[in-house]
Amino acid sequence: MDPYFNLSELEKKLRKIIEEYYALRSVGGKVISFPSGKGGVGKTSIVVNLAAALALKGKKVAIVDLNLALPNVSLFIENMPEKTVTHFLCGEAKLSETSAKLSVKKAEIDVYPAESIVDLKKKIKIERIGDLALELKPMYDYILFDQSPGLSKFAVYPTLVADVVFVVSADIKPAYLDAIKVRDVLESSDVNFNGFVVNMAKRKNLKYFYNERVYATIPYDWRLKNAFSSGKTVFQLRFSFLSSSRRAFSNFAKRLIEDFPPERE
Ligand SMILES: Nc1ncnc2c1ncn2[C@@H]1O[C@H](COP(=O)(O)OP(=O)(O)OP(=O)(O)O)[C@@H](O)[C@H]1O
Ligand SMILES: [Mg+2]
Repeated sequence: MDPYFNLSELEKKLRKIIEEYYALRSVGGKVISFPSGKGGVGKTSIVVNLAAALALKGKKVAIVDLNLALPNVSLFIENMPEKTVTHFLCGEAKLSETSAKLSVKKAEIDVYPAESIVDLKKKIKIERIGDLALELKPMYDYILFDQSPGLSKFAVYPTLVADVVFVVSADIKPAYLDAIKVRDVLESSDVNFNGFVVNMAKRKNLKYFYNERVYATIPYDWRLKNAFSSGKTVFQLRFSFLSSSRRAFSNFAKRLIEDFPPERE
């Protein structure tokens, strides 16, 4: 099915939501959403490692798993709460019941994991993502949404309530073409687009994104890949200074703090 068709059907509803949340965007922590065209380009890796970098700079950070079909964030926590974001979105749990902790050195991150709707066989009220953002904004400096790839409503909704939106991609042609499509859909729907995050970059001069609005580039890093497999951020590795992506995440966090400071009344 043509994703644009789907989206234009949704558009009227979406606009109403955008207007409703617009006023709320100005105060509190910044909600950051990471959509992508292709799957597997590194959204979860970026969310978790960027969250660690922000937390290590003294920011209060939350990670919310909104990849409701194939959630992954629980890999990074030790104890799964009984109820998760999925239950919250079904109206079956308070958000405060669904949080877990991730410790990175001296910093602590609040993680709101999800369970797959496939396993739970539940029907989600997707609009509750707006309520979720509203509840978390006063509590944190940065709220990072991990989400599903593509242009389904599950992928698009998180971008609507976000203050900052980065489209994640790898610097390879199929991923690039899909990322451009996502950017175009966001821009044509008046959703924020703050640039691309190009991940797994194997060269300094990007091949496809060289002429695009790139906010951050993360190098290909086998240490990050290994860390991910064992549910760790690169900051938790024994020889983390050897990790080529660590510096990139720290720089990304630094730039974010400068460009998008949390706004308090
Ligand atoms: N910079 C990187 N260098 C090397 N490997 C990476 C990098 N970023 C991510 N990976 C690896 O790529 C794989 C996919 O990453 P990840 O799960 O974060 O992608 P995703 O976009 O969240 O996927 P999905 O769309 O399925 O949610 C993982 O094995 C991860 O370790
Ligand atoms: Mg993921």
